[in-house]
Amino acid sequence: MTAIKAGIVGASGYTGLELVKMLATHPVFELAYVATTQGDTTIESLHPALQNVVHMPVSKATPESVIEHCDVVFLALPHKTSMGFAKPLVDAGVKTIDLSADYRLEKETYEAAYCPHEDPEHLDEAVYALIEYYRDDLKKARLAAGPGCYPTATLLGLLPFIPYIDTASAIFIDAKSGVSGAGKKLSETTHYVHINDNFFAYNPLKHRHAPEIAEKIEKIHGIKTHINFVPHLIPATRGELVSVYATLKVDIDPMTVLKEAYGEEPFIRLRNHPVDVKSVAGTHYCDIYAAVNENALFISSAIDNLLRGASSQALAAANLMCGLEETTGLPRIAYVP
Ligand SMILES: NC(=O)c1ccc[n+]([C@@H]2O[C@H](COP(=O)([O-])OP(=O)(O)OC[C@H]3O[C@@H](n4cnc5c(N)ncnc54)[C@H](OP(=O)(O)O)[C@@H]3O)[C@@H](O)[C@H]2O)c1
Repeated sequence: MTAIKAGIVGASGYTGLELVKMLATHPVFELAYVATTQGDTTIESLHPALQNVVHMPVSKATPESVIEHCDVVFLALPHKTSMGFAKPLVDAGVKTIDLSADYRLEKETYEAAYCPHEDPEHLDEAVYALIEYYRDDLKKARLAAGPGCYPTATLLGLLPFIPYIDTASAIFIDAKSGVSGAGKKLSETTHYVHINDNFFAYNPLKHRHAPEIAEKIEKIHGIKTHINFVPHLIPATRGELVSVYATLKVDIDPMTVLKEAYGEEPFIRLRNHPVDVKSVAGTHYCDIYAAVNENALFISSAIDNLLRGASSQALAAANLMCGLEETTGLPRIAYVP
């Protein structure tokens, strides 16, 4: 098969590095272009772990150079910066997968949580790249919006149960993430001295992934929900564990519900015990478990925030957009022990 030229804008960041690693061994995509704000370096200088593995010059990122070198591009950029790139790239026919929040939400939801949208004309065509729910749309898409990491873990666990949940009651989502979820830029919260031996909630009940979760539940099931989302930072590099607490309106066997939803899915593993982050770290898997006590429902899901929560989900979307098998080049073996 002829190689498809792939590029990464934002290659110096954490999700950019994950994309480099997967594209370096992908059987069809050829890593043809990597770029950062400044350029003028090499990929192995930015990421010393790549020395003797991948050697590539890093370009100064411009839409023109992406158009010249790429058939498909991953935007591993902060929100707002991404839409400045996506707009000309989609118009020029470069298949674009954005990892930021810029194309995930309806305009009103986005502007309430982030900033004014500068590319509303492409928002309508962007496909939300939660693979199990949007794979048919992704096959036809020119622009894909990578879901947030917390929404990915939450929605994959919660969506199958929505028809059985009393949605007039609050749904509580208690989520924990490794520090790489915050990107490579250092802040007081992510400083070693603050996060080491520590564990705390941040933005409780007002984190901007809450409206994303609510909006997607409504789009998929046509049901409005009361989402109460509390993220925590844990002293781990990667991995995300989500615990959902909800009230059932009917009796169900939770594992039967999950099997009906995901029995055939190659990258969802249904567990008969509560899940953990180490078993998914380094992979595209989402592990899910659920249990019931009378009308109380507990759902437990785990992903690698940098992979299923960002880069490998983006790669699965790119595979579909380019007519490849969805699972091509997706990582399967966890970083255990
Ligand atoms: N980390 C996660 O777990 C995760 C999960 C899901 C989604 N996301 C989203 O994915 C995106 C990337 O996240 P990340 O964690 O990889 O962030 P990151 O580690 O901070 O990397 C972002 C990169 O973007 C580059 N950049 C910024 N402005 C640029 C510009 N104008 N042109 C070219 N490059 C530019 C920066 O590199 P230079 O300054 O060197 O140019 C930086 O390396 C974000 O929108 C984030 O919200 C992240």
